[in-house]
Amino acid sequence: MEIIIQSDSRRASELAARIVAQTVIEKPHAVLGLATGNTPRQLYRNLVRMHRESGLDFSGVTSFNLDEYVGLPPAHPSSFHSYMWAHLFSGINMAKERINIPDGMTTDIPAACRKYEQAVRSAGGVDIQILGIGTNGHIGFNEPTSSLSSRTRIKTLTDESRLEAAGAFGSEDAVPKHVITMGLGTIMDSRMCLLLAFGRKKAAAVALAAEGPVTAMVPASILQMHPRAILVLDEDAASSLKMAHYYRWVSEHKPDWQKY
Ligand code: GLP
Repeated sequence: MEIIIQSDSRRASELAARIVAQTVIEKPHAVLGLATGNTPRQLYRNLVRMHRESGLDFSGVTSFNLDEYVGLPPAHPSSFHSYMWAHLFSGINMAKERINIPDGMTTDIPAACRKYEQAVRSAGGVDIQILGIGTNGHIGFNEPTSSLSSRTRIKTLTDESRLEAAGAFGSEDAVPKHVITMGLGTIMDSRMCLLLAFGRKKAAAVALAAEGPVTAMVPASILQMHPRAILVLDEDAASSLKMAHYYRWVSEHKPDWQKY
């Protein structure tokens, strides 16, 4: 794992945007894996700005979102479809037909999940997978005890995750109980994972994921097995890391060719 600690979420999101932009510039037909939540909002804002101001071109890019709530139509204001159009897709030039988000309204969930996996494979696999992290260590909606080799499937949300999502739905009762999420195996197949975490409430999950044992109880810990996982953190999210001093030292002494 490469752990990059930035002074605040603004700088961290700028750095993450440079990494994504580099991928898109080097590979105009790149495949992006996208996440929702509060964390990647600034990253998406930066990508929109880079598209507007420097012509960062997304016309050949394909995307796959990590997850969607079961039973929520795409137009629902709290769906991940709505989130993605509000925060990214309406501001860049991606072709609509290359945008993929799990269909929460499908009547055959297992078949839709198999089709989603197949679509990722047909697109050539994910080049860069953007991730946030839940306070319980989930990535996507792979809740604790998810199989470390799971594929896209239905999951039941934990109370903790439903409580965290309550703000977007008005109340915890209104939060759907089920989601479709890419699995940990699906995420691990990507060529690069870029996990962002900001704020003190993420510190414990980040420390367990990066420095604890690999365990299904902390799904993000599987990233320790990924050959190219980058964690971009603000000071607060990094505040429980035992090796923080070393991560800073590594960043400061990077050879020029390794810098982002
Ligand atoms: C949800 C999403 C995750 C996201 C997590 C953290 O559970 N399914 O992809 O990483 O929330 O959200 P936030 O960034 O708002 O803290």
